[in-house]
Order: sequence, then structure tokens, then C-alpha cells
Amino acid sequence: MSNTPSPRRFCNNGPLKGRLRIPGDKSISHRALMFAALAVGTSEIRGLLEGEDVLATAAAMRAMGASIARGDDGVWRVQGVGVGGLLQPEAALDMGNSGTSTRLLMGLVASHGISACFTGDASLSRRPMGRVIEPLSQMGASVEASPGGTLPLMVRGALPAVPIAYRLPVASAQVKSAVMLAGLNTPGVTTVIEPVATRDHSERMLKGFGAELWVEEVGGERVIRIRGEADLKPQHIEVPGDPSSGAFFIVAALVVPGSDIVIENVGLNPTRAGLIAVLRQMGGSIEELNRREVGGEPVADLRVRHSALTGVEVDPAIAPSMIDEFPVLFVAAALAQGTTTTSGLDELRVKESDRLSAMAAALTGAGARVEEREDGLVITGTGGEPLRGSANNRVKTHLDHRIAMSMAMAGLASRDGIEVDDTRPIATSFPNFIALIEGTNA
Ligand code: S3P
Repeated sequence: MSNTPSPRRFCNNGPLKGRLRIPGDKSISHRALMFAALAVGTSEIRGLLEGEDVLATAAAMRAMGASIARGDDGVWRVQGVGVGGLLQPEAALDMGNSGTSTRLLMGLVASHGISACFTGDASLSRRPMGRVIEPLSQMGASVEASPGGTLPLMVRGALPAVPIAYRLPVASAQVKSAVMLAGLNTPGVTTVIEPVATRDHSERMLKGFGAELWVEEVGGERVIRIRGEADLKPQHIEVPGDPSSGAFFIVAALVVPGSDIVIENVGLNPTRAGLIAVLRQMGGSIEELNRREVGGEPVADLRVRHSALTGVEVDPAIAPSMIDEFPVLFVAAALAQGTTTTSGLDELRVKESDRLSAMAAALTGAGARVEEREDGLVITGTGGEPLRGSANNRVKTHLDHRIAMSMAMAGLASRDGIEVDDTRPIATSFPNFIALIEGTNA
């Protein structure tokens, strides 16, 4: 990332039209690189997200011995070192802005006979790592963190690590995956219990790589067991489009009058599809075309048309399946008829930024009616009228890609336009975001 912020104004340039293809899923891309790097032999990955977060994972896996290269054909080829074969990295692993890279790789290091220092940018260095330090310490790893359990931190792996049964105290796919990945090189069976289901890409993909893994429902909880000292077989993986990136265009097409677009290749894994359900409940026209399977995940093209939206009370139980989509849902709520109430969203305060306070401030600055509560926002919409926008105040994005992209889309549905203070973080997850806006909103 360059050293100087890159502000940009987003204005209403008329309806969004045409077809667009969103980049690969960030969660699946991280996992594809990590698991391929742990298989013995060469894996091929098509459709990998080439965003900064995923490139940080690639660099870290290279630093621990894997060979990873992008061919001229856009296919990534990974030669793995085998579970147990990770090498001691020579320098600190720079995780940039990526919480997923950090937490999952801490899990991997925890059960290898190596140590690694993790560093990150100002946003990542404020995020809590105690949630992974706790179970990884129980497995025998030793972690020295900065005050408050933050980066920079050092993980010293345990060899052998001890298998544990761990019930997640927060609904977090990152914590679940960190324990599962530590379990990969731990003798015996490691168990993770999820009181609330979170995204299951690790489970799906590890099975595909040949790990012995069992998932069952017991008393309303998900119990995942993984047998360690696993032998992963190289795979050919196709990464579906990221629903969390598609979300920005879904909302923009719903709120900008006259819009009618098709977003191709959107991943529709049920553990990720909460936003679509809520937007439909609000009256959004979102049609699934050509439903199919890509890389073991359900996918469809989505036709989205401008719709009159109505405010709803969002059931907190749906939050884990749309945890990254709340910032852009808040934009939809600000343009709906009536009030949208959200609750149970404490986790949003520890994402790349405090997304409740960042979105409350940004939307209020653009003329929306927002009440910030401890665990959610209450937003009273314009009833379809454009937001006022802001002629002279810049949205503070706090190094958070999803605040930048959400407010960019709010700008498309505003009278005076909206300026975001820094578009650089968008490259962490959606490098061609601005090019796609220009292509559909000329
Ligand atoms: C992710 C899990 C979620 C999500 C993040 C990606 C993953 O984080 O917010 O963008 O790939 O496992 P939490 O596990 O903190 O909920």
C-alpha cells in the first residue's frame, strides 16, 4: 500500500446496468493457499482473489517453505511441504490488514516445531488475538503478545501439540479454523464445538484435501472433529466469487433508481447468504439464475433490480451468516421506507474498524437518521429519496475496506455525492472495485 491516502468522491451517475463478474472469495482463497501449501505435491487454484490480504497469506506460506507461483494463465500453482513440514520463517510475517491470515496462520504455527513473529498495519494491530491465543495455549503453544493480546506477537509452536475439545466463546470462523488448523498436525482428534454455526469453508475444503473430519449436530450445536497428523492430497480448486464483494453491487442496484444488473458467479454457501435473505425480506428483487456448484460451494448469477425497500427488524441469529455485510446493509436501511433495527452485533466493534461507530458517523454525515446502540444501529430511511450526501465532509474509513466500499455505494444514491478519505484499503479484498463501478455506472 502506498504511503499517502487516496481520497475519492462517489456520485450518482445514473442507473447501474449490465453484467459484472466479482473476484474470488477471500475466505476460500486464504484457505486454498494454506491447505495447498500443506499438501504433498502440486495443487492448482483458479479464480484466486489477488487482493492484498490473500497475497499476505501467500507470502507467509512461501516464508514457511511452500513454493507458490501465478502462471501467465492466471492459475496459481502451489507445491506443498506436507503437514508437519513447515519451515522456520527467517523474518517476521507481515500480515498487513488481514485478520484471517493472522489468526489461521497462528493456528498452523502452533502445532509445528517452529516459531513465528506476526506483525500488521495500525488497524490489525488493534484487533484482539486473545481469542486464538487462549485455545492455542491450551494445545501447548506459547504466545508472547503485545499489551491487550494484540500484534506484534510471537508464537512458539508445540511439537507435539495436545488435542483439545474447545467450545467457541464467540461466533468466529477464524477461531474455529485456527484450532482446526492446529489440530491438523496434532496427534489424536481435536474437537471444536460451535454453539452458533459460522462459515464452513475450512470444513468443506479440508475434506476435499482428504483430511479425516466429522461434523455433527449435537443438542443444537455443531461439533467438528479433525484427526491430526493428516495427510493432505493436492487438489485442483476453483474459487467462487465472493458474496461479501457482490454485496456492494447488490445493494447499489437495489437503491439506485432504474438499475438492473447481473452479478456473475456469486458464492451462495448458506453460512454466507444472510444478506440476501434480509434484503429480500425488505422487498429487494434478487433473482438466482443458473444455480450450480463451483469448488464444492453453491453458486449462482444474481439479477438485481432497483426495488422499493422497507425497513425490518433484523434477527440477531442471522448475523454470523452476514457478519461482513452489515456496513452495506446499513446503507440499504438508510434508503428504505421506515426503520431498520439491528442488534447482537458486538463483534462489529472489533473488525478492521469499529464498524458500528464508523458507519453511524459516516451515514449521519451523509444526512441519514442513525441511532447508535451498544450492539447495533437503528436507522430510519429516506423512503427511496436520495441521501443528502456531503459536499464538504469526508467519510473516515479507518483503514477499513468495507467502510470505504459501503460509503462509495451510498454516494451513488446521494444528491451531492460522498467523498471517502482513503480508497487504498479496498485493494485488500476487491482490487477492481472502482473499475467495476465505472463499467456499470458510466
Ligand atoms: C472470516 C471470518 C469472519 C469474517 C472475516 C473472514 C474467515 O471473521 O469477518 O472477514 O475467513 O474465517 P470472524 O471469525 O472474526 O467472525
